[in-house]
Amino acid sequence: MLVALLMRKHLMTQTTEKSSTHACTCNPYEPKLAVIEKIIEESWDTKTFRAVFQDETLLDSFTYEPGQFQEVSVFGVGESTFCLTSSPTRKGYIEFSVKRFGSVTSALHELSEGDIVGIRAPLGNWFPYTEWKGKNLVFIGGGIGMAPMRALLNFCLDNRADYADIMTLYGARTPGDLCFTYEFEEWRTKGKLYLTVDQGDDTWTDHVGHVPGYLKELAPNPENTIAITCGPPIMIKFALVELANLGFTNEQIYTTLEMKMKCGIGKCGRCNIGSKFVCLDGPVFSYAEIKELPPEF
Ligand SMILES: Cc1cc2nc3c(=O)[nH]c(=O)nc-3n(C[C@H](O)[C@H](O)[C@H](O)COP(=O)(O)OP(=O)(O)OC[C@H]3O[C@@H](n4cnc5c(N)ncnc54)[C@H](O)[C@@H]3O)c2cc1C
Ligand code: FES
Repeated sequence: MLVALLMRKHLMTQTTEKSSTHACTCNPYEPKLAVIEKIIEESWDTKTFRAVFQDETLLDSFTYEPGQFQEVSVFGVGESTFCLTSSPTRKGYIEFSVKRFGSVTSALHELSEGDIVGIRAPLGNWFPYTEWKGKNLVFIGGGIGMAPMRALLNFCLDNRADYADIMTLYGARTPGDLCFTYEFEEWRTKGKLYLTVDQGDDTWTDHVGHVPGYLKELAPNPENTIAITCGPPIMIKFALVELANLGFTNEQIYTTLEMKMKCGIGKCGRCNIGSKFVCLDGPVFSYAEIKELPPEF
């Protein structure tokens, strides 16, 4: 009995320390109600939802870090995992971007402004941005993979003096697949923005080609630089090759893993890889940490 109690206390402490930025004595499985205040149609298959907690005390006290994620529930349908794509520097709301995929994502796409969802957040670890002060940052994103990086990118742009050069390379299949186009001007003026698509159209004047190839051309200097990459596995695979060719070490490269999740708080074992739980130890990992994971991953 005593052992069971101690184990439970240990697990609860572990969960609180690793996965949350604020002490919470509440039930971690209980979703908090939030109103969908705004819906942005990003592309033919992706929408961004701006949500505001109904409980005003929670609305005022809620804090999170760039890189953390949330579980969003559509009542009567189910719950799914999404990164917090808004920056904690932009207060009063949280945002998540949803690519239509299966049952929950399709149900989210059917919602209207004013509808209610359930949210369990913040979950998981975050980008170690304080360790990166004074460094150059290179963001390499593909498709919906830009969503978790947008939280960090906007956070760093809002704390611009803390970082040296900030470069963003963002690619998608076609111009119509690019998300967050309404923020490109800000990303371009406060940093450097390079866009590429696999296939352009009559209006496209930027680069045409895959992200890793453009990365090779742009050749960011690895000295005092951190690279953050997120996107389709094939893009990440070849971006890692180019980063290594440019001289980036595994410790200088970060990504977020999208293992399927259920509880999001280290209890169900759904996201377990070797000794790690992606929902607690991640989703943010350096490439050096990923190389330590079991080979089947
Ligand atoms: C940490 C994390 C952050 C995420 N952030 C985002 C985000 O910002 N935006 C976004 O659009 N999506 C994100 N995802 C993926 C998102 O959680 C899934 O697309 C979603 O759960 C699908 O739910 P569904 O009910 O629509 O699909 P389902 O009906 O559950 O599934 C449809 C099919 O997709 C498979 N599937 C479902 N989820 C995953 C997954 N994560 N990996 C591989 N296969 C899967 C199922 O096995 C099934 O075959 C994230 C996932 C994780 C783990
Ligand atoms: S999702 Fe349940 S342990 Fe990670």
